[in-house]
Amino acid sequence: MADFNRNGRTVCHLNLQDENIAVSEDRAIVLFRIVQEALTNVTRHAAARRVIIALERTPDACLLEVHDDGCGFDVFATRKRSFGLAGMEERVLMLGGAIDVISSPGAGTMIKVRLPDKWAIENSR
Ligand SMILES: Nc1ncnc2c1ncn2[C@@H]1O[C@H](COP(=O)(O)OP(=O)(O)OP(=O)(O)O)[C@@H](O)[C@H]1O
Ligand SMILES: [Mg+2]
Repeated sequence: MADFNRNGRTVCHLNLQDENIAVSEDRAIVLFRIVQEALTNVTRHAAARRVIIALERTPDACLLEVHDDGCGFDVFATRKRSFGLAGMEERVLMLGGAIDVISSPGAGTMIKVRLPDKWAIENSR
């Protein structure tokens, strides 16, 4: 993130609920990859002034949001044509989570991810 802020025109803010959000290693890796791809997309496509990354946890899940104020895009027209967003979705679904990509031309882009804890998935079976 320091590199991102040094090199680009987009300022990146990080909102953490607290410094020590507990998350399993496999979930942490997926969250990291999603942030990495989302920031790459912001750099390549969004022409945003600002991107905000927020991470918090609920009693049974981790919630990640990456939100930019850039150009946005038509989610339905763009679906599945490239690997970045499709890869995010695949990783999240493998961990029993959910992902929403909310965007429209001119309105910026919001990526919302919910990764439930392993025990929470097992208990809901
Ligand atoms: N933050 C964003 N702002 C504006 N457009 C975006 C944003 N993120 C994605 N897009 C649009 O959605 C498309 C699909 O994104 P995706 O990450 O799947 O593919 P990509 O970045 O084009 O290629 P790659 O496979 O290398 O990731 C992009 O080509 C771009 O048009
Ligand atoms: Mg991409």
